[in-house]
Amino acid sequence: MIKNRYSWLDTPRLICGVMTGTSLDGIDCALVKFYKNNDSVIQFEIIDWELTEFNVTTKNTVKQIIQEPVPISLISDINVLLSHLYADSINCLLKKVQMPLSKLDAIGIHGQTVWHNPNGKDLFGHKIASTYQIGSISTLAAILNVPVIGDFRSNDIAVGGQGAPLVPIFDYSFLASNEYDTIALNIGGIANLTYIPRQCKKNDVISFDTGVGNIFIDLAANDLFDKPYDENGLFAIEGKLIYDLFDKLKKINFIYYKPPKSTGRELFNKELYNDLLKDIKDIYPPNDIIHTFTYYTAWSIAYNIRKFCNPTSRIIVSGGGALNSFLISLLKKNLPEALIIKSDDLGIPSKAKEAICFAYLACLRILEIPANITSVTGASRECILGVLALP
Ligand SMILES: Nc1ncnc2c1ncn2[C@@H]1O[C@H](COP(=O)(O)OP(=O)(O)O)[C@@H](O)[C@H]1O
Ligand SMILES: [Mg+2]
Repeated sequence: MIKNRYSWLDTPRLICGVMTGTSLDGIDCALVKFYKNNDSVIQFEIIDWELTEFNVTTKNTVKQIIQEPVPISLISDINVLLSHLYADSINCLLKKVQMPLSKLDAIGIHGQTVWHNPNGKDLFGHKIASTYQIGSISTLAAILNVPVIGDFRSNDIAVGGQGAPLVPIFDYSFLASNEYDTIALNIGGIANLTYIPRQCKKNDVISFDTGVGNIFIDLAANDLFDKPYDENGLFAIEGKLIYDLFDKLKKINFIYYKPPKSTGRELFNKELYNDLLKDIKDIYPPNDIIHTFTYYTAWSIAYNIRKFCNPTSRIIVSGGGALNSFLISLLKKNLPEALIIKSDDLGIPSKAKEAICFAYLACLRILEIPANITSVTGASRECILGVLALP
């Protein structure tokens, strides 16, 4: 556990964490109270959380920025638009809990990743590694008149890290156990995990992306059923496994790479989806196709846990994928030795977990406590993450 060095937490503080991830489903907002206990260890209490879905135009425009060459004016405008949308979501959440904006001490935003190249390239004689999350922190601070912290990844990249994952410090601080080896598994668009062997030190924590999370399932739900996602896995549960498609999926090499490893929409995207379904789509029922993608998602997560972690661990599942009961049942079948629970069972709503993490990262930034785990990101040193915009 981290001991804070500053007196900011002498009184409990309210921080709103805001997350927009690779699924592009919308804005997850969590209102979290932070305080310290008698040993000066940071504790938190979740007040409430809310998802504001993106409308189709916003979703498609952000997707366009990520996947296609677009004019810089569009990126600049959406950078500001997102902050207006973040402000609306925060206002909505505060209204829900009947709390005035003036009570909010800070906001931590992840922003929307539109570019992530931590390995870098040579550019005009310099080695340039970069990441870019849009959602202007200055705009948001000005609209709401609250300090905003964002751009959490750049510092870590500047000292040679991958700038990701950043959630492990939260997992290590709040989910570690002396009794169990613990895996915190987040199934968002991409699936990633933090492995915390019992009694491990901070720099023994392992964390990596296992591969696809909900991206293929969402693409199939959209393409074959005209839905944004497969609610509770009800379409998939009606289907059966297509061996041809599963064999093709098993050829995606990323699953077998050794950690540390990370991936995103540059690999798991519509082009790959279309390619996988070439010669298959018209032959098999839609339910079989979405079943097979769901089966593959569970299989690939289980493969990585078996190969690189301990399959008898306690696995704490979060992210929107935790709400897909069929996916979770397949995960349990693939890992019968594990104790699989949802983060909700520990009082952390699965869909809000990453937003809660970014509230925590904002808190660490204000306290000037380093938040990157160098064994996880590969950075040459620990550093304080995030940039503060004052209203
Ligand atoms: N009730 C549900 N049943 C099945 N899947 C769901 C449900 N709710 C959310 N999801 C899935 O979770 C995804 C969003 O998860 P999220 O954790 O926000 O990911 P990201 O961080 O990539 O945005 C949705 O796109 C959808 O696939
Ligand atoms: Mg999301």
